[in-house]
Amino acid sequence: MFLSGTMEIDEQGVLQIGGVSGEELREEFGTPLLVLDEKDMRRRANCYHSALRESYPGDFQILYASKALANRTVFKIMRQEGLGLDVVSGGELFKALRAGVDPDCIHFHGNNKQVHELKMALEAGIGGFFVDNFQEARALNELAGEMDVRPAVMLRVKPGIEAHTHEYMVTGQPRSKFGLGLTDGRARRLVEMIAGRDELSDGDRLENLEFEGLHAHIGSQIYEQEAYSRLIGIMFEFMAELSEETGVICSRLNLGGGLGIRQAEGDPEVSIGQHVQNISDGVAEESRRLDYPLPELMLEPGRSLVGPAGTTLYTVGSIKPSPGGKKYVAVDGGMSDNIRPALYDAEYSALLAGKADKSPQETVAVAGRCCESGDILIDEVELPPAESGDLLAVPATGAYTRSLASNYNEIPRPAVVLVHEGQASPVERRESYEDLMRRDMMPARFGEN
Ligand code: LLP
Repeated sequence: MFLSGTMEIDEQGVLQIGGVSGEELREEFGTPLLVLDEKDMRRRANCYHSALRESYPGDFQILYASKALANRTVFKIMRQEGLGLDVVSGGELFKALRAGVDPDCIHFHGNNKQVHELKMALEAGIGGFFVDNFQEARALNELAGEMDVRPAVMLRVKPGIEAHTHEYMVTGQPRSKFGLGLTDGRARRLVEMIAGRDELSDGDRLENLEFEGLHAHIGSQIYEQEAYSRLIGIMFEFMAELSEETGVICSRLNLGGGLGIRQAEGDPEVSIGQHVQNISDGVAEESRRLDYPLPELMLEPGRSLVGPAGTTLYTVGSIKPSPGGKKYVAVDGGMSDNIRPALYDAEYSALLAGKADKSPQETVAVAGRCCESGDILIDEVELPPAESGDLLAVPATGAYTRSLASNYNEIPRPAVVLVHEGQASPVERRESYEDLMRRDMMPARFGEN
């Protein structure tokens, strides 16, 4: 049986998460329900911290990639564990500020930041920007001049690496939409415009930006550690070349996120400690080899902080054999709360939360309730005989589930609860039908509202 986070099975065969039984959670909050295990999130954040502290000889910063699960309580937890935040939109920034996150700890990503977002971020006084392209750099420079501020910027580059993961999750390859190319001279040109010593014609000098270094993110759900070693080599080669030819030194190096998690039996396990140590060693070694000043190392994990800490609870509804021999066990959620199986062929495991002591007897498909044939949460999972009304738990669903959730079929999005030492506290309430109506409008000539 696949368990994640601090999940346990008690003597009655009942699933407990953070010391609260699945059944109690269903009774109090209903299903579908995303359950977040606070202890596990803290432990994971702490693993990043202690591994960097122990293995990296220089300064470091860890930013939580808030897109994985943007929730104020989660932001607070990450901050309490000493992490900063990466945001990619005005909305994420707004939530982070509303959570009381110190603006200095917030860093802004995105390949098409809007001028109003840049302005909002400058007004808030965030820690820095990961600049993606020339247009953005010019807009930010102009705004900074108007507002008489000097934002710190790092440049996002495409290191030309193809990591082994789903093609929708690869971001570092040369044709990626994110960042500027290392080999076509574009990244170097922008660095020179911000920080170069050479004379540039007016209009080419971005004098209001403070250059701090480079950023690269090679993709997501990556187990292959070798990809990070290659990344470090490529980044240092470029940094050394920059320093030699332009005199510009990168005081910070951000290597993104992307560490893969176990979602089902058979998935590899790469520990956070192992991952961090591999990166720390690689960076320290390259810096020594090239006699390059040790940069402040930044990492920005998302999934590996919150993914395994989340479990989705569903109630089993209809159960149906199909002619091909496949048995469908349908649940009261689906692609509206977890689109990852449909979008990326993501594989999950499941257990019956009230029958966790029973041995599996049949292989079933867990079907969602949305009107799409592709709404199958799990293609094949071994379960004890399931009955309508059973509570079904899908572990390792904390990342990119709530954040990618939709109201497809006008299904209200689930509640999110935080469990910790036997206590359950809601951190996002279930959507109501009234919520669904909130933005729906009707011109007066169509009748009364
Ligand atoms: N930094 C940058 C610039 C990113 O684009 C991402 C994720 C991260 C950090 C965090 O990566 P993580 O550690 O979470 O792998 N929706 C997809 C994942 C998209 C990831 C987008 N960027 C999924 O559900 O798998």
